[in-house]
Amino acid sequence: MEKLRLGFIGAGFIANFHATALKMVRGIELVGVYGSKRAKEFSARARAEGIGECKVYPNVAEMCKGCDTVAILAPNPVRLEIVEEIVEAVKAGAELKGVICEKPLGRTVAEAKRLVAMAKEAKLATAYFENQLHMKAIRRALAQLEPVQKAMGPIALARSSEEHGGPHEGWFWDPTQQGGGVLSDMGCHSIAVSWFVLTPVGKPVRFLEPVSICAETALLKWGQPKYRQKLLDRMGVDYEKIPAEDFCTGTVTFRNPESGQLVKAQFTNSWMYDKQGLRLLMDGLGPGYAFEVNSLKSPLEVFVGDAAAEAVADAEKAVEKSTASRGLLAVHPNEADLYGYVDEFEDVRDAFLAGKDGFLNWEYGLEITRLCQAAYMSAERQMTIDLTDKATQRKLDSYTSLIAQGKGGEVLYRQS
Ligand SMILES: NC(=O)c1ccc[n+]([C@@H]2O[C@H](COP(=O)([O-])OP(=O)(O)OC[C@H]3O[C@@H](n4cnc5c(N)ncnc54)[C@H](O)[C@@H]3O)[C@@H](O)[C@H]2O)c1
Repeated sequence: MEKLRLGFIGAGFIANFHATALKMVRGIELVGVYGSKRAKEFSARARAEGIGECKVYPNVAEMCKGCDTVAILAPNPVRLEIVEEIVEAVKAGAELKGVICEKPLGRTVAEAKRLVAMAKEAKLATAYFENQLHMKAIRRALAQLEPVQKAMGPIALARSSEEHGGPHEGWFWDPTQQGGGVLSDMGCHSIAVSWFVLTPVGKPVRFLEPVSICAETALLKWGQPKYRQKLLDRMGVDYEKIPAEDFCTGTVTFRNPESGQLVKAQFTNSWMYDKQGLRLLMDGLGPGYAFEVNSLKSPLEVFVGDAAAEAVADAEKAVEKSTASRGLLAVHPNEADLYGYVDEFEDVRDAFLAGKDGFLNWEYGLEITRLCQAAYMSAERQMTIDLTDKATQRKLDSYTSLIAQGKGGEVLYRQS
């Protein structure tokens, strides 16, 4: 079997999750890593676990020479410079088959467009990593419902939420670095997965046309003085000066270009979900049928009583962004598989080895960025955004939300 020789740019949280996923994927060898801080430690782990030789490279250019695919797993603010370096490496002779980028593709539409253009210029196959479309639970639900959908009509309402208690690194909290708050961070997942769920069986991922979007952003927990101080102490980010939203919700309306039917995707995301840990909640409702996924419903429950709790060293062993280490815990036997990471690597392996884009390419990532930015625009202007309007489309091309500009106080504190 031909192997994909993969290199990671970034060695933090998601790189480690992906390393766990790669243990379950055949035909990919992790040959290298480049990441400013934790690359050495990450490389030792990868080698110990047999995922590949995972050499530590001194820069992006050198790594591009040593592998045939690179995955951008670094923070959002360094996307452009990294892709510029990749393109330079290709021009200098590096033989890359393709490049993977984690969500969100860009912090603005302009940034995402630039990334798409650079990959095109270098003739690189692309994959946009949106894991939720690869989740086995979602794929299984749609496969099970395929004959029902054909008989009764497609899903007309999809609801999706991803919530946890807040990110693990300061740059995520800083809207001027991350590109916003929870909407930019996790709204992109929820909008994407609902768009997919609504898409009639057998149609491409961008078949349904976005018609309008109506959204709200709010700061419900981390703007309060007590929690603002905690955030400042823990993450060094001051939400009095540069607040970002810790809650968002909204509805995207899509149109079926063949039947004219309008369908709706509702999304809700928060960084104030102080339950056991990360929860993904998705459902789809069609005429006479429905499905529901709740990632906190695990087949495995573990109970740790107060007396035993002192012995628990690492709460995050239970589920991503765990908040508790005692009581009745929802524990996932295989989170990397549950969230779709295994399947997205299998997809990119097959696509890049065949010389094709992944199931989700960067053009698709650009459309998700556009929808997220339109959601910010809607929340800022307190109005529904008409996505079919040419003037609005042009405005979105050069739009940076007030929150991403560090002016979130004008939007998020206006109610008080
Ligand atoms: N699909 C998902 O569910 C999911 C989950 C978490 C994060 N992500 C995405 O993955 C990306 C990384 O997030 P994370 O949580 O791993 O962040 P992180 O801060 O935990 O890790 C980032 C890593 O990148 C390295 N880095 C920083 N600047 C760099 C540069 N210029 N060049 C190379 N490496 C650099 C850091 O040293 C660190 O190793 C983000 O874009 C985020 O949105 C996706």
